[in-house]
Amino acid sequence: MDIKGKTAVITGATGKLAAAIVLAMAKAGANCVCIYHKNSKKAGRLKAEPKRAGVKSLFIKADLTKPQNIEKVFAKIRDFSKPQILINAAAVFDKKPLNKITPEYIKNTLDINFTAAILMTKEFVKLAGKKKKAKIINITDAITEKQPAGFSVYSASKAALETATKTLAKELAPSITVNAISPGIIHKPKKITAKIATEKTAGVKKVLNAVKFIIENDSVTGQIINVDRSGDL
Ligand SMILES: NC(=O)c1ccc[n+]([C@@H]2O[C@H](COP(=O)([O-])OP(=O)(O)OC[C@H]3O[C@@H](n4cnc5c(N)ncnc54)[C@H](OP(=O)(O)O)[C@@H]3O)[C@@H](O)[C@H]2O)c1
Repeated sequence: MDIKGKTAVITGATGKLAAAIVLAMAKAGANCVCIYHKNSKKAGRLKAEPKRAGVKSLFIKADLTKPQNIEKVFAKIRDFSKPQILINAAAVFDKKPLNKITPEYIKNTLDINFTAAILMTKEFVKLAGKKKKAKIINITDAITEKQPAGFSVYSASKAALETATKTLAKELAPSITVNAISPGIIHKPKKITAKIATEKTAGVKKVLNAVKFIIENDSVTGQIINVDRSGDL
């Protein structure tokens, strides 16, 4: 699929990595539907980019852990433009040892990192059309292959999304492809920030290349593309 002229829905658009995806999609000529939660300031700044690239954009503020909000989001998208690309990037990320884990923490992590992505996919497929060409990209995390201590809930939420990616690829074939991009640490926690600028550039670039590759290759589906640069947490 050619990116130019398509409409891409991107969740977590105000995120450090996801904002770079928005920019890349706009520069490649896609109209952007940017969904964010609380960071209106960053959303305000980001709005200038699609405009600068000469594409249309729609910014929607919504808490995607509430299923009724997902339906409302798609009612707005329906009035804007029929989408062909969905990028599920919204997530929460926390290091939480076992003795700090609460039922609320587990529920919130799964609600945004897994459930919201699945419900977004469901509504997206309804609107895009199961027989029309479309691309779904889930942003997961290479942490699912490393299993570092302290991330049991976050890792499990991303592992669940990777499994669903493979299943949905079969369910939605042949018109709709479903893939995941699994980055390593790009934006490091503050206490280990040495060399962050170059690492950030390289890590983001790998994700953007993978997004382009998935969208432009109609036969790639059910894949988890690990773009981790190296090392453990
Ligand atoms: N950046 C990295 O180093 C890295 C590494 C590996 C994997 N990843 C994965 O890549 C994806 C993008 O990362 P990122 O760095 O852009 O993430 P980020 O900076 O942590 O941003 C998270 C995004 O999710 C949104 N969000 C959080 N809770 C939400 C809710 N209840 N409803 C709707 N939106 C919600 C936030 O909205 P507001 O800010 O507006 O509240 C924000 O836009 C994530 O899935 C992450 O797990 C990132």
